[in-house]
Amino acid sequence: MEGNTGNQSEVAVVTGGNRGIGLEICKQLASNGVTVLLTAREENRGAEAVSILGSLGLSNVLFHQLDISDPSSALRLADFVKEKFGKLDILVNNAAIAGTISEIGNPETFRQEVKGMELVEKIGRIREHIREPYIQAEECLRTNYHGTKAVTKALLPLLHSSSHGRIVNISSRFGLLRFFNGEELKQELNDIDKLSGQRLDELSELFLRDFKDAQLESRGWPTEGGFIAYKVSKALLNAYSRILAKEHPSLCVNCVHPGFVQTDMSFQVGDLTVEEGARGALMMALAPKGGMTGGFLDRTEVAPFM
Ligand SMILES: NC(=O)c1ccc[n+]([C@@H]2O[C@H](COP(=O)([O-])OP(=O)(O)OC[C@H]3O[C@@H](n4cnc5c(N)ncnc54)[C@H](OP(=O)(O)O)[C@@H]3O)[C@@H](O)[C@H]2O)c1
Repeated sequence: MEGNTGNQSEVAVVTGGNRGIGLEICKQLASNGVTVLLTAREENRGAEAVSILGSLGLSNVLFHQLDISDPSSALRLADFVKEKFGKLDILVNNAAIAGTISEIGNPETFRQEVKGMELVEKIGRIREHIREPYIQAEECLRTNYHGTKAVTKALLPLLHSSSHGRIVNISSRFGLLRFFNGEELKQELNDIDKLSGQRLDELSELFLRDFKDAQLESRGWPTEGGFIAYKVSKALLNAYSRILAKEHPSLCVNCVHPGFVQTDMSFQVGDLTVEEGARGALMMALAPKGGMTGGFLDRTEVAPFM
């Protein structure tokens, strides 16, 4: 095993571990001696990822099925972790979807088209090739916000059984409150002392209703720059993360924006390699006890949620 510097007895669960940033996080955690439960919604994709890591000499990676949008799947995973390890040290909530339909034809042609462009221009070009129908918006909230919440809830007791439980929520710069139009809504989502998980669920419902009724503007939801449901899902995830940090002071709960990374989600036109994109998450996942909680990392730098 390469770089075996960590504590062999630590156990991590990574969601969406079969590709992209999630796979890299699994690889790096395992390289640091952590026993990794790589999870994926599709058995064959997960098993293949484990076998790829195995061929790199990382035998401390196991697979378990997890569809984060299916609460019963999260409960089955929690039973497995309880039975096998009796605790969980690190949960990396990485799995997410963009909530869009891509009309990018040939990915290689697209890559050539945007080659050499600045980041903002590239994202603008991606936006020209995507659509955001209601059904995708709903799936996006169900996966990125409700799904992550269900997985976290199912695994919380096991994180408390660790002497140093950590939750790393892979968020996005798109979840920052600056993308919201309404001051009142921004303030509400930033007021962690008043906010509750139940209110976040209500806001998720309100957003979907406003989306369906084309009323996004009136309540102050994000409206510019596309990826609307994705922005809301990550903002709700950030707020949930901050509430959790407050309610569970013995855990370290943080959000990380990985940067614009070369993965399928970015149509492989990101500026960063997966190794670079995984750095912030690794920093938080491997942070010693007593470190930051309730915070946000923009790549590897602490940044505001606003
Ligand atoms: N790439 C970027 O530039 C970028 C920027 C900001 C934030 N992020 C965040 O970084 C994280 C990883 O993104 P990525 O770029 O690596 O994306 P990706 O390559 O599209 O990978 C997404 C992963 O999530 C999994 N997933 C999706 N829905 C799932 C579900 N219901 N249950 C279980 N797994 C599910 C996918 O599994 P399948 O293979 O089965 O689809 C895949 O493993 C996400 O949270 C994303 O929002 C990425």
